[in-house]
Amino acid sequence: MSKHRSYGTAHPEPQTAIDRTHADPPVAEVLDEDRYFSSHKPPAYLPELEEQMTKFIEFHAGKKNVVLVTSGGTTVPLENNTVRFIDNFSAGTRGATSAEYFLENDYAVIFLHREYSLLPYSRHYSHTTNCFLDYMTEIDNKVQINPDFADEMLVVLRKYKNATESNSLLLIPYTTVNQYLYTLKSASTIMSRLDSGALFYLAAAVSDFFLPQSRMPQHKIQSQPSGKLVIDLEQVPKFLRRLVDSWAPSAMIVSFKLETDNSILLQKSLTALSRYQHQLVIGNLLQTRKKEVVLVTPDEKTEWVRLSEQEEKNGVEIESLIVPAVIERHHKWIESKRKE
Ligand code: PMT
Repeated sequence: MSKHRSYGTAHPEPQTAIDRTHADPPVAEVLDEDRYFSSHKPPAYLPELEEQMTKFIEFHAGKKNVVLVTSGGTTVPLENNTVRFIDNFSAGTRGATSAEYFLENDYAVIFLHREYSLLPYSRHYSHTTNCFLDYMTEIDNKVQINPDFADEMLVVLRKYKNATESNSLLLIPYTTVNQYLYTLKSASTIMSRLDSGALFYLAAAVSDFFLPQSRMPQHKIQSQPSGKLVIDLEQVPKFLRRLVDSWAPSAMIVSFKLETDNSILLQKSLTALSRYQHQLVIGNLLQTRKKEVVLVTPDEKTEWVRLSEQEEKNGVEIESLIVPAVIERHHKWIESKRKE
């Protein structure tokens, strides 16, 4: 329906991707956690978000399972008064789309997302090549919904109202990797009260390298006499293991693995499972992530989820197949924890 052509300017070119065949960095231990959180300040607004998340969990405890969906990419600021930052490609499509299918399947959703990335429901109308004004028209001096879009919009509006009126969707924003890490830790500890009823669906693309606060210049970096800017970044601690071991030990945890080379996707997914000791990795390739993914479990079982040609033509979203497959596993997880 788009009136304007998309040139795919946001699509990365896999052939120029960096070589990621180097060894994985070590998993974060208790000491790394202490070191990181004692040397980086929490965002000032964090207590407010913690209050919102606590109320949300109290509201749903014993009634609905709750999923934390992480979505979008984290930024790495290079200056405290940030003019420049490092970013990544993720628009939050996977996260925002999945959140809708979790809501449709009666889950309550905490949507931890990069601020201004795609949101559940409004994603249908933002970030398109249509201007939002194209969805409207003027009839008798009044603004009305363009009849071309009205039926489709009614379906989305009903789902949105259903989610918001039942208080089933909580939007929690982040921008920087530090904000993400602090908020993920708070959300996890708050959600741990739900035991196995808590599900983590970590679709965010989290920065691998960052500039620690102790070395961050206060003001905009000026032109260098050398004509070059050399930035010395450090590895972001891999906190997934801390999430599994300590932050929410009874929850089911699903992580994603993004690769550009098909031949290493399965191995990388299995390696992630053995490093972090969690329950499910969803492997996807940058080039085909919207039409196929692979679900990998610690027993080395793999299940490909693929859209058929017909489904692709009909505009079926792959998340409508991924989410029920995850929920089925979550129900089994809850059952197994009950028997323990
Ligand atoms: O937003 P889209 O454009 O739709 O793209 C979706 C996606 C391709 C980004 C998504 O499907 C995806 O694959 N996300 C994970 C990307 C990745 O490979 O992450 P990673 O290998 O750096 O991290 C592994 C897992 O741990 C991820 O689930 C990540 O969310 C999580 N993680 C990583 C590091 C960290 N410090 N904290 C984390 O929670």
